[in-house]
Amino acid sequence: MRKRVLSGMRPTGKLHLGNYVGALDNWVRMQDEYQCFFVIVDWHALTTDYADTSRVKENSLEVALDWLAAGLDPEKSVLFIQSHVPAHAELHLLLSMITPLGWLERVPTYKEQQQNIKDKDLGTYGFLGYPVLQAADILIYKADVVPVGEDQVAHIELTREIARRFNGFYARKDIGGYAGPSVTEEELQRRHYVFPEPQSLLTRAPKLPGTDGRKMSKSYGNTILLTDSEPAVRRKLKTMVTDPARVRRSDPGNPDVCPVGDLHKIFSREGTMAKVNEGCRSASIGCIECKSWAADGLVQLLSPMQERRKKFEENPRLAWDILEAGTERARKAASATMEDVRAAMGMSLAYEAPANNGK
Ligand code: TRP
Ligand code: SF4
Repeated sequence: MRKRVLSGMRPTGKLHLGNYVGALDNWVRMQDEYQCFFVIVDWHALTTDYADTSRVKENSLEVALDWLAAGLDPEKSVLFIQSHVPAHAELHLLLSMITPLGWLERVPTYKEQQQNIKDKDLGTYGFLGYPVLQAADILIYKADVVPVGEDQVAHIELTREIARRFNGFYARKDIGGYAGPSVTEEELQRRHYVFPEPQSLLTRAPKLPGTDGRKMSKSYGNTILLTDSEPAVRRKLKTMVTDPARVRRSDPGNPDVCPVGDLHKIFSREGTMAKVNEGCRSASIGCIECKSWAADGLVQLLSPMQERRKKFEENPRLAWDILEAGTERARKAASATMEDVRAAMGMSLAYEAPANNGK
């Protein structure tokens, strides 16, 4: 049996190169090795933007198009929308019962975001519970591995703690049992537990600068989108910041401190990289030329994605159908876990005679 992977993304609209190198690229490669579930977490989007829901659905479809374009393959992986599998909410509720408030208040992203994000109301119950909902997303598929960026590691650690706490309270006594001589004591132990503790798999994300040299991020308005056309990519590159020491064409520069140099390191071939290193440091190439090479690398990456995207763009219904089929598969897996959960808690839906025999 292949190990199970789950990861998710909030539907924030069109994805950019940062989303690709920070997550998607990795997910695409994991598909052959793992049984993968990839979820568009639209409920998570509501934790910070609950009042205006007008774009949520549209943004979810947008993300799905980018996923398919980037090479997530519905034949290999389960692609679906969180809110379409309501069991996530049921498990979230049960996990919320056993999660101490202090654990949530201590999650680093909680305080950080409250300090940094001033234009949103983060004073809700839902926002505090964000990581519990995330834990439910992961545990409901009994995921073994969760590929995430650095910022999410604390959430996965919390997920493990919640799983451990749940298993401690509600270890199942009705399964496992005698399993033959070949089964180890450890394995027997494990079978009594409803939830495996998931491992986070840190995506090695190279530093990806946006056009202004800061980290590429939607909120900075410095992104290159996966859907940007070749002319758009070239235009954005033209105005991208460079090594500030290279004021004149005759000044030597340093690709190691230049955001365009960073793009080359990620997206250009070795030969190009060598030309950049040599030419920049000796001032034998100009930044305009250097940027056009960087653009070539990006276009080479993006054009097959945009090619793949065409058929879904012309007929978005196809992408929606893929999400619906994925949802169906996700629901099955989720409801199997929920049966385990209810049984472990002694709250299964099956009739059981009262212990006092009705008297
Ligand atoms: N919190 C994650 C993020 O902001 C999104 C997410 C929600 C997620 N549920 C998840 C990631 C489950 C991994 C697994 O990126
Ligand atoms: Fe940056 Fe390239 Fe200009 Fe050097 S030549 S400063 S790497 S854009």
